Amino acid sequence: MSSDTGYDADPELPELYDHIPMYNSRGDVNFYLDLCREAGEVLELGCGTGRVLVAAAQAGCAITGLDNSPRMLARCRAKVDQLPSLERDRTALVHADMTNFQLARRFKLVIVPFRPIQHLTGTREQLSLLQCIHQHHLQPGGRLVFDVFNPNLALLAAPVNGEEIEDTPELTLPDGRRLRRSYRVLQKRYADQCTDCELIYYVDNRPIMQPLTMRYFFRFELEHLLARSGFEVIALYGGFDAEPFTNDSAEMIFTAVPQQ
Ligand SMILES: C[S@@+](CC[C@H](N)C(=O)[O-])C[C@H]1O[C@@H](n2cnc3c(N)ncnc32)[C@H](O)[C@@H]1O
Repeated sequence: MSSDTGYDADPELPELYDHIPMYNSRGDVNFYLDLCREAGEVLELGCGTGRVLVAAAQAGCAITGLDNSPRMLARCRAKVDQLPSLERDRTALVHADMTNFQLARRFKLVIVPFRPIQHLTGTREQLSLLQCIHQHHLQPGGRLVFDVFNPNLALLAAPVNGEEIEDTPELTLPDGRRLRRSYRVLQKRYADQCTDCELIYYVDNRPIMQPLTMRYFFRFELEHLLARSGFEVIALYGGFDAEPFTNDSAEMIFTAVPQQ
């Protein structure tokens, strides 16, 4: 199985992902860690290189991570292999598509941190993910928690001009190479609620491209998708300090439970 979400476009991408300061300062890890500690036993979908998963294992949780990118998962596995045996032993990694998987076990908590759901561009895949969680992977009384960005209407409406925008000023990697990153919007497909971009990592000025399509959701589309899949929304936050969702929120963080 291979990923078609761009993370496998170049062997260096998973390592470079881990060095983007903006990702490491998101403030989401502590939010998810609190939930993981409370649940004890967790499934993380779209676990990537283990940004949340490794911290959860270190915090004493039993965590299963699933991702469809062989390269992201390989980097995650390398980090898990470095953990003390107690932490390593309570961690499992699965290579699978989160829209169609069967682990034959149920979890108290399923998390999908940092927007993997926005890689699912079609309604059928989105429902398939939610139904797979609801029908086969949540314990009674279990919770699903995930985040997506709250679409910024001014940015969405801005015309596409092909301009390259730097989002990561130059920094030095641990091995001395220089990294900076830009992105370019290629197309805004309003009819599909999708934005096609490319991320451009420059390593010692050599460009490494990652194609990226992001599906954006408005609040009530997600509420309807969750309801169609048998979930009830019990909380919607606008940020990782559990602040209320408002006009200006950058994030939409949903907590959903199976409907009674
Ligand atoms: C932005 S990264 C987030 C990684 C990690 N959760 C984190 O917080 O750093 C999105 C991840 O979702 C994964 N992904 C995208 N679509 C997927 C799918 N259909 N099934 C499984 N994983 C998927 C990608 O491979 C990537 O590792």
